[in-house]
Amino acid sequence: MGRAFAFLLILLGAQLVASTFKICAFNIRSFGKAKAANRKVMGGLVQILSRCDISAVQEVRDSKGSAIRTLLKELNRYDPSHRYSCLESKRLGRGSYKEQNVFIYRMDLVSVTDWCQFGEEDSSPFEAFSRGPFAARFHSPITAVSDFVLLLHHASPREAVRELDLLFGVCMELVQRWKTQNLMVLGDLNAAGAYIPASAWAGIRLRSHLDFHWLIGDQVDTTVSHRTCCAYDRIIVHGDELLGAVVVRSAKPFNFTHALGLSEEEALKISDHYPVEVNLRLALKAQREL
Ligand SMILES: *[C@@H]1O[C@H](CO)[C@@H](O)[C@H](O)[C@H]1NC(C)=O
Repeated sequence: MGRAFAFLLILLGAQLVASTFKICAFNIRSFGKAKAANRKVMGGLVQILSRCDISAVQEVRDSKGSAIRTLLKELNRYDPSHRYSCLESKRLGRGSYKEQNVFIYRMDLVSVTDWCQFGEEDSSPFEAFSRGPFAARFHSPITAVSDFVLLLHHASPREAVRELDLLFGVCMELVQRWKTQNLMVLGDLNAAGAYIPASAWAGIRLRSHLDFHWLIGDQVDTTVSHRTCCAYDRIIVHGDELLGAVVVRSAKPFNFTHALGLSEEEALKISDHYPVEVNLRLALKAQREL
C-alpha cells in the first residue's frame, strides 16, 4: 500500500471519528480516592473517557468529591483539545453506603440546560428507588438533535425488575415536565442474568412499550470478567427524532481490555464493567465545518 494512500486512510478515519457525537454510560466500580491515586487506573480511565462527548458515570464513591475533581483535571490535561466539565447527582443510597451518578461532558460542544434528581421527596412515587435516577437536559449546536435528555440510573440488583418498570414512569414525567420526546435511558441497569427472570420482562413497561428502543441487546456482554456474560449495562432510546439521530448499529460495549491491550487482571482494576456507548449524527452545518 502506498504511503500517500495510507495517509489518506488515516485522514478519513480521523474524519469518521470526528463526525459523530459519542455518548457512553460507564460504571467505574467504586470510583474513589484509591482509584484516583492509582496512576495506571487513571491512565486507562482518561483514555476511555476522552473518547466520549458525554460520559454518564456511575459508582462514584467519595464523600469529599476530590476523586472526581482529580479525574476532571487529568482528563483536561490528557485531552487539551476539549474542555471537560461535570454535573454531579446527590450522594444516593438509603443506608451509609452512598454513591453518585456524574455526567462528564465537553463543555465546548455541549451544555447542560436543566437537571433533576428523582426520589428525593418522601411523597414522590419514585421514592421506591434505592438510588434515585438522575436526569440532565443537554443542548448541543453540533448534534442532529440539538436538545435531548439523558436519564442515568444505577439499578439495585435485587430490585432491578421493579426499578426498570418504575423508570417508565420517570420517563413519562420528564416528557411532560420538559416538553420533549428526546430521551435516552442509560446506565448499569442490572438488566440481565438472575436479576431479571425471563418471565418478568413482559411486566416491565420500559421494555414492553413500543416507544422505547433497547439498543444494547440481551446477548451482549458488558462485563470485563471472562467468567461472566451479561448485558447489565444498557442504552434505551425514546422518541423518533432522537432514534433517527442515532448512528445505526453504533451502540455497543467498548472493550477496553482489547483496545488498551490489557490483561483481564489489569482491566478489572479499572472496572468490572465495560462502558456502553452510542453515536449521534451531527447536524449538517457542523459536518460542513469539520
Ligand atoms: C474483550 O477483549 C478481550 C481481549 O481481546 C477478550 O479476551 C474478551 O473476550 C473481550 N470481551 C468481550 C466481552 O468481548
